[in-house]
Amino acid sequence: MLDMKDIPVHVAIIMDGNGRWAKKRNLPRIEGHRVGVERAEEIITASKDLGIKYLTLFAFSTENWQRPKEEVSFLMALLKSYLEAKERELIENNIKFNVIGRVNLLPQEVKTVIERVVKSTQKCDSLNLILALSYGGRAEIVDAAKKIASRVMAGDISLEDVDEDLFVNFLYAPYVPYPDLLIRTGGEIRISNFLLWQIAYTELYFTPKLWPDFTKDDLIAAIKDYQKRERRFGKVID
Ligand code: IPE
Ligand code: IPE
Ligand code: MG
Repeated sequence: MLDMKDIPVHVAIIMDGNGRWAKKRNLPRIEGHRVGVERAEEIITASKDLGIKYLTLFAFSTENWQRPKEEVSFLMALLKSYLEAKERELIENNIKFNVIGRVNLLPQEVKTVIERVVKSTQKCDSLNLILALSYGGRAEIVDAAKKIASRVMAGDISLEDVDEDLFVNFLYAPYVPYPDLLIRTGGEIRISNFLLWQIAYTELYFTPKLWPDFTKDDLIAAIKDYQKRERRFGKVID
């Protein structure tokens, strides 16, 4: 049974396996991405209904820029059309939209629609939906280190003040609590440069299901598994 009093506050998902899903069906990889967007929609709605407060979806990594040009362009176009089509629905469902990553590297037309949807959903307060785009955990840490270094050089902060609490304030989304549960679909048992700083004490859940096959029931199964775990954070629990 799902314990509605122990729903993770923040769920992060590495949505992997679109290409393999398509390949199994003799379809081009982009068809996997297309169906992947439908699953993302289902999981966003399910997350809101379950009372999850933050959902971070890994949609495009810093390394994914190295994929064939056509696949990258398709993913960018898909992102743009998704946001255009769903802006109204996000507002109606009270879902607040944000992004993390080196967003400045995205095509201008994608940045424009992102800025618009971020703005138009800012007052929404049910689910926080965060898309990781052009995102890399190492890049995020380097970007934070650079911002801190420049503030130290400017004399705004002293080196002695740099600690973990201060560091967090320079990450892309300092207001977001660390993920309680990280799900990776697609069968790989790795992190692939996702949220490196934030997942220090996150519960990890790996499933062989390919992302285009991952449904609300699979999300519930992951949360049930999470609810069986004892989170100790290095302490002794009696
Ligand atoms: C995940 O699916 C989506 C993105 C990385 C954009 P993949 O495209 O990585 O699918 P596989 O891993 O090749 O099956
Ligand atoms: C991770 O999947 C990135 C996203 C899901 C957006 P990848 O398919 O890029 O990861 P690797 O290459 O298998 O490590
Ligand atoms: Mg993959």
